[in-house]
Amino acid sequence: MLILGLETSCDETGVALYDTERGLLAHALFSQVDIHVEYGGVVPELASRDHVRKTLPLIEEVLAEAGCLAADIDGVAYTAGPGLVGALMVGTTLARALAWGWGVPVLGVHHMEGHLLAPMLEDEHPEFPFVALLVSGGHTQLVRVDGIGEYRLLGESLDDAAGEAFDKAAKMLGLPYPGGPHIARLAQQGDSTRFDFPRPMVNRPGLDFSFSGLKTFTLNTVQACRDAGELTEQDKCDIARAFEDAVVATLVIKCRRALQQQGLKTLVIAGGVSANVNLRSALDKALAKEGAKVFYPAPLFCTDNGAMIAYAGAQRLLAGQVDDAGTRVRPRWPMEELPPLHKAVHG
Ligand code: KG4
Ligand code: ZN
Repeated sequence: MLILGLETSCDETGVALYDTERGLLAHALFSQVDIHVEYGGVVPELASRDHVRKTLPLIEEVLAEAGCLAADIDGVAYTAGPGLVGALMVGTTLARALAWGWGVPVLGVHHMEGHLLAPMLEDEHPEFPFVALLVSGGHTQLVRVDGIGEYRLLGESLDDAAGEAFDKAAKMLGLPYPGGPHIARLAQQGDSTRFDFPRPMVNRPGLDFSFSGLKTFTLNTVQACRDAGELTEQDKCDIARAFEDAVVATLVIKCRRALQQQGLKTLVIAGGVSANVNLRSALDKALAKEGAKVFYPAPLFCTDNGAMIAYAGAQRLLAGQVDDAGTRVRPRWPMEELPPLHKAVHG
């Protein structure tokens, strides 16, 4: 079954072709970063308009790359939520129009389920059940996963998402949006012993997160450097390092706790922040000690992309799930509301 996947929930247009027998055939991505960078964040209306411009050309690109024709496509999967409502509507409208024209089924996919299943695109992929740490710009969640659509939320951020905290800290350091990769780059030159940032909520039981205190701590440290003269490049690197270390340490502690609590030995980490190299190596090290293993998507598929949507949609379309006529975009959409894989009608 050949599935076309469309991702338009935020500031990346992602398109992919996934074949349930042959695997991922082609993918293409257009990042809108240059459009939004001057505003310091995503401007929803500009995002929607650019998805309108880019999605069809990217579909033509993946068809050409895979050597397929539109007539070969057996189904269309698109991101139905969560995300920016206008951006979601572009993908939804296009996916449905194409599927209707081609006479094939269409299905709205949950963006975070896409992230969560992205490691399944790798040759070495995890087996159910596992604990997933979803860390993106909008979400920080620990989820128990017993199968596709069998999700139990174990903990989540009570305020900012991890990616959002990276972006805000970057802004304080005068770095461009999205800030995560910039913080990671500066942190490499940072001195880990100069500042000691708090590890939020690690001494409290449970699996929830909070990153807003860390944000305030970062702001105060930036201000203290300015008060001492100026904010130098080395100050920025040291602050980036202390910030990253604090986020990484917090995530590692909660992941270990979640695995212990659930009696599981497999962790999946996905979403934009899972591209962070220090987070990956800290998790590898900490979990190896306990005989647990971590699975990640390829760096390219950590951030938003069409391949994860094509994959998640393909599994559900293969199981017979399709949109009904009343299906709407879901800017907010708890993942626990998703039906398990073998329920015939998409809810
Ligand atoms: O999953 P994603 O592409 O979009 C959402 O669904 O939100 O995640 C984007 C987030 C941004 O906040 C970005 O700063 C962060 O992921 N990010 C990183 C890294 N690469 C992307 N954060 C830390 N380190 C990175 N290397
Ligand atoms: Zn995402």
